[in-house]
Amino acid sequence: MSDFITIEQIDAATTFIRERISLQPQVGLVLGSGLGALAEAVEDPVIILTREIPHWPISTVAGHEGRLVIGRLEGKAVLVLQGRAHYYEGHSMSRIGLPVRVMQRLGVHTLILTNAAGGLNPEYSPGDLMLITDHLSLLPMTGPNPLRGPNLDEFGPRFPDMSQVYDLGLLALAQQVSDANALAVRQGVYVCLSGPSFETPADCRFLRQAGADAVGMSTVPEAIVAKHGGMQVLGISGISNKIDLNGKNIASHEEVLEAGKIIVPKLTTLIKGVLAEL
Ligand code: HPA
Repeated sequence: MSDFITIEQIDAATTFIRERISLQPQVGLVLGSGLGALAEAVEDPVIILTREIPHWPISTVAGHEGRLVIGRLEGKAVLVLQGRAHYYEGHSMSRIGLPVRVMQRLGVHTLILTNAAGGLNPEYSPGDLMLITDHLSLLPMTGPNPLRGPNLDEFGPRFPDMSQVYDLGLLALAQQVSDANALAVRQGVYVCLSGPSFETPADCRFLRQAGADAVGMSTVPEAIVAKHGGMQVLGISGISNKIDLNGKNIASHEEVLEAGKIIVPKLTTLIKGVLAEL
């Protein structure tokens, strides 16, 4: 299979989904590791298994269900991706962007990306939520960019602007919802690495010095594709583990999934609050 997704593939996946839903989704929601339980809040859900959708990048990781849940949340028509695929699973960066392209084809204009991340900022604790103000695209900067390959002109330009990937209006709204519900969200910069290995102590010091507050293995490719296609993006990290810059990152995938249980109720309040005001 080519590294690069095509319009035909995007359309085949879009048609497959469109034939199974009557709702026109307005908001897309991608749920990160351990955060899938949020999909249970969706009312009157239609569930589609991602492994049945043509050309879809399949997630093989524990804590990623591999389902699309389409229904209503706070009155808004949402399409929830419960279980994303990651670059470290072997998909090309281009294919990681396919779900976002399909959402764009379905008419989704707002995308909420969530992830579990390690806290590099010494003030962060496990269980904290961080609104992503910007990202450090370490991987896309050095080659594996989801927009590499033929440009899909109908979605966006060859050289898209990335000066404000995360929508300032959505950021302000999310902060307002946090304040109203005493969620004490942080705001910071997210850096995406390939994984699947966690960071060495030297990696962590390097990332912190480069300006990152949280580190993970997702979100940035989807955010780039979303911005290219003109979507409004909100990014939220759930801090699953604290990284000691003088010691080790002792993160484990089990710890990440465990932290999700503390994060999901807060994330649900935040996302429902944002959806209600959209
Ligand atoms: N590093 C990278 N990815 C992660 C981490 C981490 O510490 N925690 C959750 N996802």
